[in-house]
Amino acid sequence: MAVKFSVERTTSSKLEATDFSNLRFGDTFADHMFESRYRDGGWDAGRILPYGAISLDPSFSVLHYGQAVFEGMKAFRYAGGKINIFRLDAHYQRFIRSCDRMNIAHVSREVFEESIKQLVDIDRNWVPQDTYKSLYLRPFIFASDEFLGVRVARNYRYMVITSPVGNYYAEGIKPIRLTTYPQYVRAVKGGTGEAKVPGNYAATMQPNALAAQEGYAQVLWLDAFEQKYVEEVGTSNIFFLIDGTLITPPLEGTILPGITRDSTMYLAGSWGIPVEQRKISIDEVFEARDRGVLQEIFATGTAAVVSPVGFIHHQGRSIDMKQEQMGELAQRLYDTLTGIHHGSVEDPADWCTLI
Ligand SMILES: Cc1ncc(COP(=O)(O)O)c(C=O)c1O
Repeated sequence: MAVKFSVERTTSSKLEATDFSNLRFGDTFADHMFESRYRDGGWDAGRILPYGAISLDPSFSVLHYGQAVFEGMKAFRYAGGKINIFRLDAHYQRFIRSCDRMNIAHVSREVFEESIKQLVDIDRNWVPQDTYKSLYLRPFIFASDEFLGVRVARNYRYMVITSPVGNYYAEGIKPIRLTTYPQYVRAVKGGTGEAKVPGNYAATMQPNALAAQEGYAQVLWLDAFEQKYVEEVGTSNIFFLIDGTLITPPLEGTILPGITRDSTMYLAGSWGIPVEQRKISIDEVFEARDRGVLQEIFATGTAAVVSPVGFIHHQGRSIDMKQEQMGELAQRLYDTLTGIHHGSVEDPADWCTLI
């Protein structure tokens, strides 16, 4: 029998008042949330509650030392009404790896899965009908010791909140502009770059603000030591289609192991496209452009799925892909992934959990 959580339903649903035709990313929340607390070495039974503010002690360790992890995944609606939670298991595995890096107590596979399934089920009317829209799911754990001092916390909260979303980029699916910044780095080997932890994102706020000011959608991160090899983009992984081969940087500790990256490599491989996970220098990308063999650049991630990259600025030089739309492969990947999400394309590898 699946774990059963206590449920307190909202008495004032916001569903009717929500304009699903005008969703921006991440600013609307469904009616309920999940919470479980960890103390004395174990998690309590967990509960589903009306979505709302939580009280935090000002000394909570997460506010001072940032011991926290999160995931980002999505639920999609099939035409018949069923709801598909995409790649639940892969997200759980990454959540646990992030917990390990932050020395945070694991939630069990069962609690993770059931908290998400039961929460989505209660708020199933919040999963948008429309293709290209979804319910974004945000499980997270934070340290809640009432204690100042750097130590592994003894108290945690595991929560799940959900948010109906449309397109990630306000401008819709148009090629994005990226820039490198040699004065900033995102991650080093042995650090936390491969974990999904708040501090990684906090450290990108200043460069992101600069990028926005200079007219770029995201920063293209290069390796921290040589500022030579491409790593990833803002909140996405990056792919280059060069002379028919799809190339993406390898997972060597500094890059988030994207689930969409994994799905992309699987699909491209299944279509007979050679896929290489290997170091690729920014100079190699410029050289491929100069040789006329740079066919496509795109970024992948749960939020935006596939984003074509139209322009890269790097130290006074630039690559302009001169395209207004997605490239052919990016479009095929986007259509196939979106089809799998919404059930019009067959699930190729047990990626879908239906409720
Ligand atoms: C830093 C970073 N890289 C890559 C990704 C893409 O990962 P995924 O495809 O699992 O969403 C994300 C988003 O989660 C991210 O935050």
